[in-house]
Amino acid sequence: MKSTRATLKMTVAALAVMTAGAQAADVEVLHWWTSGGEAAALNVLKQDLEGQSIGWQDMPVAGGGGEQAMTVLRARVTSGNAPTAVQMLGFDITDWADQGALADLNSVAEQEGWDAVVPDALKAFSKHDGKWVAAAVNVHSTNWVWANKSVLEANGIEVPQTWEDFTAALAKLKEAGITPIAHGGQPWQDATVFDAVAMSTGGPDFYKKAFIDLDPETLGSETMVEAFKRMDVIRANVDENFSGRDWNLATAMVINGEAGFQMMGDWAKGEFLNADKTPGEDFLCFRFPGTQAQVTFNADQFAMFDQGGEVSAEQAALAKAILSPSFQSAFNVVKGSVPARTDVSDEAFDACGKQGMKDLAAAASSGNLFGSMAHGHSAPASVKNAMYDVITAHFNGEYDAETAAAELATAVELAQ
Ligand code: BGC
Repeated sequence: MKSTRATLKMTVAALAVMTAGAQAADVEVLHWWTSGGEAAALNVLKQDLEGQSIGWQDMPVAGGGGEQAMTVLRARVTSGNAPTAVQMLGFDITDWADQGALADLNSVAEQEGWDAVVPDALKAFSKHDGKWVAAAVNVHSTNWVWANKSVLEANGIEVPQTWEDFTAALAKLKEAGITPIAHGGQPWQDATVFDAVAMSTGGPDFYKKAFIDLDPETLGSETMVEAFKRMDVIRANVDENFSGRDWNLATAMVINGEAGFQMMGDWAKGEFLNADKTPGEDFLCFRFPGTQAQVTFNADQFAMFDQGGEVSAEQAALAKAILSPSFQSAFNVVKGSVPARTDVSDEAFDACGKQGMKDLAAAASSGNLFGSMAHGHSAPASVKNAMYDVITAHFNGEYDAETAAAELATAVELAQ
């Protein structure tokens, strides 16, 4: 009896040591990849780490665009319990780095030669005062349209090249009793559509002046009024249940042929692939009409929270894995995004992925690459949220187009 108890004690003690050991080699990852396509992509990362015997503590916070995840993150940091690694966008990385909360990844960056392969548009956020603070997983872009190919064919619709082509296509679908645009009425989704609509209405200089330079005159301009009028047209072409719908459910409407188009970032492609659909056969991807030469991008990066002292071995391993060329290819093929390094072959990518890589390179070299307003790459969160409020209030009929443009200028000014 005594010996049994002693053995039990020893086993418990051994287990405790083992568990502590396992925890030490775990990374806790806070992210908002909870849809089917996103989870499939996340698995590629999990498996990569498992292959290196690094355990994965999952901390998913549902909510497209990551607003909810950022709220949870603030609560965790405030209570002194920051996760090891956090999915983050653009100016959120800068904000946390400003507060000195992020670990220094320079040793990994140097060893892996990140400086030579990560493009400047991403480095603007991955680096802070010469210090690498985040590892980019991908580059997404928001000015895409996703279409059900057979719905378009059955209604004699070609890929629209201009806003006028697009509105004509919407009218045909409406006439045929099909929901023209699948949309989820959530502020970040309204804003995602607005990225493309504003770019298409006013062109790249207008987009830059309004969303990046935050120029009050441009924000309240006639062109902005016109952009909001186009949002009215979009609003008139969504179904009556759009309010609050998650983005992936809107994608499912296009997948199932209930709707013709969805205007959404290329994470939508992950949903089509997850439903075994093939680009060019089942669905089409094209740039929002009038933005064919532009790319409004956002990049998911993983920032490592400073755990006190040096970056931990697990954090370093995660960062290294994320930016390895083979992972960049394997992950982005599934996620719908394109690699965050300039030296990854497009061989494994489907037609939309190949186009995404080509568009990104062309936009970067012709000065047509801009940070997405909706996804935290054009201005800090306070300004982004102020814009969300106005765009959503207008989309829901609280403001007409003139009032919305005036409110946008005021809201942005107050938020700075
Ligand atoms: C992220 C994507 C994600 C999407 C929807 C975007 O902000 O960059 O990775 O799939 O939100 O959740």
